[in-house]
Amino acid sequence: MVGNGWDRVPIDSQSIDAPLSRAAVFLTLTVGEGREALQAVAGVLDGLDDLIKTVGFRDLNGRLSCITALGSGLWDRFQTSKRPQELRPFVPIEGAKHTAPATPGDLFFHIRAEREDLCFEFERLLLDQLGSSVALADEVAGFRYFDSRDLLGFVDGTANPTGHDIGASTLVGSEDPEFAGGSYVVVQKYLHQMQPWAGLSKGEQEQIIGREIVSNVELPDAASGQKSHKTLATIVDDDGTEHDILRDNMPFGRPGHGEYGTYFIGYSRHLWVTQKMLERMFLGDPPGMHDRLLDFSTAHTGAVFFAPAPRTLSALVQAVQT
Ligand code: HEM
Repeated sequence: MVGNGWDRVPIDSQSIDAPLSRAAVFLTLTVGEGREALQAVAGVLDGLDDLIKTVGFRDLNGRLSCITALGSGLWDRFQTSKRPQELRPFVPIEGAKHTAPATPGDLFFHIRAEREDLCFEFERLLLDQLGSSVALADEVAGFRYFDSRDLLGFVDGTANPTGHDIGASTLVGSEDPEFAGGSYVVVQKYLHQMQPWAGLSKGEQEQIIGREIVSNVELPDAASGQKSHKTLATIVDDDGTEHDILRDNMPFGRPGHGEYGTYFIGYSRHLWVTQKMLERMFLGDPPGMHDRLLDFSTAHTGAVFFAPAPRTLSALVQAVQT
């Protein structure tokens, strides 16, 4: 699932380490009741590699990729006795001031490319094939904003793992051998309150995020009291080991509608790591001192999926079709 750098054709499925793209579509669907809908979905997933080639081959420089991930409820419907160890629905978090809600989602597609039209065309054909077996839960088209900035103005994604660390942080390993090579996916759609944010000084904004806005240089962690977003999202276990996730957040928006957002997507080897980040952000550390980013950003969706390795996905969908 993590490429070896020898790929002759730079279009791929289930490649979590696909490079940061200029455009992305985050598509969340629910699957209709009954075996017929399930079988129809399985049939489409079985042919997904071909669909990626059909669209992606039209411009190889466009580097089209798609990751397919399944929610906990859908996994159960596949009636396989084996499940990824940590897979479960999104657990809502109720902080004193802010809430991370859980919203529906059986199937999730993370479509990435250097060109918006490739993402669009792939999504169009995919939805055409899925037809009435699915219903739309959420659809967001994201774009790269200058030097990978979010709409609050900060460079987003800097502390992501790189190189060999990507696989170690994102792919399930020998701890769950049946599902090795797969990855837990957590998504949340945030909308920003731009005016109050713009009312802060540059220094206040930088303290909230934990980095300098222009240079992107990290600020020191607070010794006590209110911690920055960057510090709250850093997870160190009792052994002193830091646990990373891979984020591929993208801005989205419609200025005419006053909509300015960040689509958060985190891939991780262990679901508990992303969960812990969310708890530290929404409940605070120390408790009560929540992430101040949330005073200017509201989570409107929340869902958990598992993106299986290609061979696991194809075994799963073939079993349903027979
Ligand atoms: C760091 C923005 C939500 C996890 C950062 C940084 C920015 C940022 C600007 C600093 C640069 C970087 O390292 O990427 C945002 C925005 C969010 C959001 C705008 C939504 C409104 C989340 C959520 C999580 C998360 C929901 C986890 C559940 C992280 C992590 C880091 C980080 C792990 C790196 C920490 C480190 O320095 O090690 N985020 N973030 N972020 N964020 Fe977020």
